[in-house]
Amino acid sequence: MFAIAIDGPAGAGKSSVAKAAARELGFTYVDTGAIYRTIALYMLEKGVDIEDPAAVTKALPGVEVSLEYGEAGQRTLLGGRDVSEKIRTQEVSMATSRWVAHIPEVRAFLVEVQRELARKNNVVMDGRDIGTVILPKAQLKVFLTASPEERARRRTLQLAEAGEPADFEEVLREVVQRDRQDSAQLDLLPTDGVILDTTGLGFEQVVEKLTSMARERMENEGGGGE
Ligand code: DC
Repeated sequence: MFAIAIDGPAGAGKSSVAKAAARELGFTYVDTGAIYRTIALYMLEKGVDIEDPAAVTKALPGVEVSLEYGEAGQRTLLGGRDVSEKIRTQEVSMATSRWVAHIPEVRAFLVEVQRELARKNNVVMDGRDIGTVILPKAQLKVFLTASPEERARRRTLQLAEAGEPADFEEVLREVVQRDRQDSAQLDLLPTDGVILDTTGLGFEQVVEKLTSMARERMENEGGGGE
């Protein structure tokens, strides 16, 4: 199997770039953030105090998270129920990034779930610790980033297009806050990774860079994604 690990801060365009590259390469796109979000959703729905790591850890065995792949891309299931939209709310985003993703037991609980997907499929997997912890032997590791201002600018545009205009300065503050919250994972850069700074690059250019790097690696090697 061939694995492409894409890590980087929130808003760098990881998911859209990874999705497009996976489609072009015929790989499965795995959004690992969705799994963390699903754990947060479960805790919120069950009324577990997410600020209490012991309580979250105790409730973990009840979480049945699975991913399904079909025409519509990745669907995220919690106990068999499709929660793909529910995990995108602001409440779930904050609960995940502020609390749930920092609990070592949560991270440990999810290692195998993610590795198993890469054992069975050629994957483009995006997250924060894919190249460092989850798939240290991925054939291609990319750290996708962009300046905080560029990420805030893209997010502001996206929100405006979605009919939810937001103030750039406020969005920028949120971007900086998310970076700080995710820094424990983001500060660990794989030594054999490629840094791809997308500031000033168009979407198509980034996808093209990524797929050509992948094709080059595939020609030169193969085998063992984990
Ligand atoms: O990529 P995202 O915004 O959907 O991720 C949601 C949260 O989960 C984010 O705060 C970072 C965290 N996360 C993580 O710690 N490790 C991953 N592999 C993926 C996401």
